[in-house]
Amino acid sequence: MPNNYDAAAWFYDALAQLVFGKALVKAQRFLIQYIKPKTNILIVGGGTGWILEEIARVQTLTLKITYVEISGRMIDLSKKRNYLQNELTFIHAAIEDCKLVQQYDVILTPFLFDNFLENRVQKVFNQLDQNLKSGGLWLMADFQIQDNYKSLWQKAFLQMMYLFFGLLCGVETKKLVKIKPYFINKNYAALKEKLFYGDFIISKVYQKQ
Ligand SMILES: C[S@@+](CC[C@H](N)C(=O)[O-])C[C@H]1O[C@@H](n2cnc3c(N)ncnc32)[C@H](O)[C@@H]1O
Repeated sequence: MPNNYDAAAWFYDALAQLVFGKALVKAQRFLIQYIKPKTNILIVGGGTGWILEEIARVQTLTLKITYVEISGRMIDLSKKRNYLQNELTFIHAAIEDCKLVQQYDVILTPFLFDNFLENRVQKVFNQLDQNLKSGGLWLMADFQIQDNYKSLWQKAFLQMMYLFFGLLCGVETKKLVKIKPYFINKNYAALKEKLFYGDFIISKVYQKQ
């Protein structure tokens, strides 16, 4: 399966911090403040699971969290996290192979879609949309490329990342797919957004109507 970060699991967080400082963490911290008490949450592509500790710190009333990761090594690291009182269900699979029957209050996709080719973006987006309740929140963090001359360094940076993670983890795309039209198309309301690392990273809170 493509996009599996097994080979990068042991150094991923350290590398992310070296390259982006705290930007990736801040982008996800911004999102988790919108998680309400006692909700059920789906996290897809959570990586080493540090976000589970952040969530437990911010929201102290019990949450039910389903954590889907394609990488077995990432799942193993995530299981060792101190997620306190929260009820965790870990699923080691690609999200597109999961038959999730329930609907969630919140779906979190942190730096997931930037790995995918357009057809997988479309498939996974539609699947997750069906797993989100009406009125539910979709918390998304991803890279973005602005359409202006300032974006040249971002394009070069992204190509380097795609080359590296393409070789190491089989990341399938070499091009960032624009996600915003998918949300517009399904009539989601954009509630909040914040940019990080210049405007290279975007965190956005969408609500399903
Ligand atoms: C770029 S990493 C981001 C990790 C984490 N969200 C973070 O910000 O530190 C993408 C993660 O998504 C996982 N992933 C990629 N494709 C997936 C899929 N189809 N289903 C579930 N997880 C997937 C990878 O194994 C990897 O851990």
